[in-house]
Amino acid sequence: MLQERIPDFSRFVEPDRVRREVYVDPGIFELEMGRIHERYWIYCGHESQVPKAGDYYAVQVGRQPMLMVRGKDGRVHVLYNRCPHRGNMMCGDRHGSAGEFFRCSYHAWTFHHDGTLRSIPMMESGYAGTRYGRDNPDCSMKTAARVQSYRGFVFASLAQDGPTLAEFLGQSKIAFDDMCDRAPAGEVEVVPNCFRVIQHSNWKIFLENQLDALHPSVVHQSTGRAAMDVENRIRKKTGQAPLSYHMLSAFASVTIDKWDGFQTLNYPHGHCILTGYMGLRPKDPDTLAYEKVMQKTYGKKRMQEILGVNIHHVLIYPGLSVQSPLQQLRAVRPLGVDKTLTEIWHFRLKGAPEAIYRRSLAYYNLVNSPATLINADDLENFWKVHQGLSSDGGDWVSFGRHFGRDIEKGGVTETGPNMGTSEAPMRNQMKAWSKYMQA
Ligand code: FES
Ligand SMILES: [Fe+2]
Repeated sequence: MLQERIPDFSRFVEPDRVRREVYVDPGIFELEMGRIHERYWIYCGHESQVPKAGDYYAVQVGRQPMLMVRGKDGRVHVLYNRCPHRGNMMCGDRHGSAGEFFRCSYHAWTFHHDGTLRSIPMMESGYAGTRYGRDNPDCSMKTAARVQSYRGFVFASLAQDGPTLAEFLGQSKIAFDDMCDRAPAGEVEVVPNCFRVIQHSNWKIFLENQLDALHPSVVHQSTGRAAMDVENRIRKKTGQAPLSYHMLSAFASVTIDKWDGFQTLNYPHGHCILTGYMGLRPKDPDTLAYEKVMQKTYGKKRMQEILGVNIHHVLIYPGLSVQSPLQQLRAVRPLGVDKTLTEIWHFRLKGAPEAIYRRSLAYYNLVNSPATLINADDLENFWKVHQGLSSDGGDWVSFGRHFGRDIEKGGVTETGPNMGTSEAPMRNQMKAWSKYMQA
């Protein structure tokens, strides 16, 4: 347990290794929530989740239960899910419509969609001459300190100061550009609803796994091989197997040495990109029909540029993992030192043929959903890592793979040629973590 009031975090994080307490100490977890998740930009949701005035979605930002709500003026607000009267939670449902205004279920105080007080039952007789009333901001629902969005993706920061969303995202904004540019209409639309998975492990274990190119051909080999067997059998019989088999068999065909051929790019603030793409731009009729629509919209040159973006995964620290070419997004919500909620969403490319959406849905179900063995095998390892780190079997977690071989280029740390399985992304995340924690 963390005993010091202001711990020296440089003792916990070295460039190539991290103390185990960083993952299992409840005191460190509380500090992380205050210094990282309740300070920096946390993804709340997509604007299309709240299309009409009064629509709301409940979202956890750090330890704070919040509501993302669409106002009558069309703006999206993020409010604390708490009534300023006696503290009642304003909305008990995960999502819904507040209607014309929010109405507290306890004593019927009402609030506009931006959180400002609308009415109190018998306000004049009950409160005349007191400090309570419309002029007192303490009688309105509290709002997130800052709310900003980028291409329809809404973020909140619970701190007044700090970088703007654009400054914070930096080059990682390519996750949203890549996703939206692939839509002929230039924007995406959320597919309701999301999968919600509670992992019994620390939130950082999930994030570190996202760009861990060493694990897929180990952890997911059994699933990949089984899918490959079936894929080969179908191909033998019919000449061609559905693309969805390839989404799984790639875990067997992209062997451990091939993962080294990809590259990671590691940015300030802890964000990282894994380049390389598992050959999901085939020449089947659906893809060709989609390319035709894209070419008509963007012209051939721009279409080639958009579809040629070579990204597998973008990690936006500390709470978002995006697979833009397949319109998938996973939001990470820490609930406790050993309990993490992930929300798994996917999106529809506006203006793209239905078959392209079915492809995204197939990847969502086959690779990212809780029903797939891919996800189950990851989760088992996350839980086992947390168990191992809770023991006295060792003090350090090692991030030494290809350490000392990274290439620094204008503030970006690139892994060297043929070092795609480098642990540079974990080193980068922990470097940012340490900076945030000591700020
Ligand atoms: S607690 Fe909300 S009106 Fe009383
Ligand atoms: Fe995995």
